[in-house]
Amino acid sequence: MKENTKRRIKIRGTGFYVPDKILTNFDLEKMVDTSDEWIISRTGIKERRIASEDQATSDLAVEASRRALENAGLEVKDIDLIIVATSTPDTIFPSTACWVQKGLEADHIPAFDISVGCTGFLYGMILAEGLILNGTSKRILQIGGELLTKVTDWKDRNTCVPFGDAAAAAVLEEADDESGMLSYYWKADGKLGNLLYQPAGGTRIPATSQSVAQGLHYLKMKGNDVFKHAVKRMGEAALEALKLAGLNKEDVDYLIPHQANVRIIEATGRRLKLPPEKVYSNIHKYGNVSVASIPIGLHELWEEGQLKKGNIIVMDAFGAGFTWAAVAYRW
Ligand SMILES: CC(C)(COP(=O)(O)OP(=O)(O)OC[C@H]1O[C@@H](n2cnc3c(N)ncnc32)[C@H](O)[C@@H]1OP(=O)(O)O)[C@@H](O)C(=O)NCCC(=O)NCCS
Repeated sequence: MKENTKRRIKIRGTGFYVPDKILTNFDLEKMVDTSDEWIISRTGIKERRIASEDQATSDLAVEASRRALENAGLEVKDIDLIIVATSTPDTIFPSTACWVQKGLEADHIPAFDISVGCTGFLYGMILAEGLILNGTSKRILQIGGELLTKVTDWKDRNTCVPFGDAAAAAVLEEADDESGMLSYYWKADGKLGNLLYQPAGGTRIPATSQSVAQGLHYLKMKGNDVFKHAVKRMGEAALEALKLAGLNKEDVDYLIPHQANVRIIEATGRRLKLPPEKVYSNIHKYGNVSVASIPIGLHELWEEGQLKKGNIIVMDAFGAGFTWAAVAYRW
């Protein structure tokens, strides 16, 4: 938890990268028993991007990072730490952040991953704030990269519909004016971990021919249960972050919620009593891209010229763990 204080961190620049290949709902109709109509009405998704066979999370993350650095007017030498939030790392070890460091030729700055599900970008920002304000780092490259389609069971209509691939990055540094992260609220509930998880491939169930034959390396999700928790927790997080910042619902210019399902996005907007134009949504074109969804939303709003200095933004996420968090931010 963090209340509004004088010193804060800000986002200096953002960038994102999505693979070229588009998978539409009509493509999915040919793969499983589903329909464009069902998918749009239940999720709001029309299409999603799919990484190629030879692309790993760090490949997307490196491209997103280059774009973020360019938009920040900086070079690789100007950053001193890389944090990657991902649940779909290139390799279990070393970390994806180390692969990104190699890709960017950012020798020898520290680099590490955090695994927080879809909430990872916000947890990363919170961590970055501590590191920057205590003097450990000056400028952090915070990345959210996810290739969930690599662990998707394309024969299971209950789980293969929502997810897409993407990476997004932000350069974080101490704010020198009134802008920046005003407050945050973060929580987790490990008791509910098995409602959304990848059972095999770790030390609980190591990868064997048997685990693969049983499909245990695929993402498993009890979608309807996750949905109910997401609606409840995202509403809670947004309201708590606002309270910690000393702000009211009426002060919010934009809500950027994690893009898991348009019905969750709308429910969270209603909880804050916001009109639809203040609730950012791009789920129709990318699907659920996990940790990348919030920084992509932020980037698109900035690129479209919609963010004005002083705007109050609430970023709000929920993900595997379960984890949930919200950040109140002044642009
Ligand atoms: C996954 C999700 C889209 C499923 O939508 P839903 O409305 O909850 O659907 P349900 O799982 O209750 O299933 C309802 C029915 O639709 C069917 N169904 C499920 N997927 C389907 C699909 N792709 N196409 C057609 N029918 C489908 C189910 O089999 C079920 O049929 P039944 O009633 O005959 O048993 C939705 O639960 C969701 O978005 N969950 C939240 C995910 C999330 O928040 N993640 C956050 C962290 S990433």
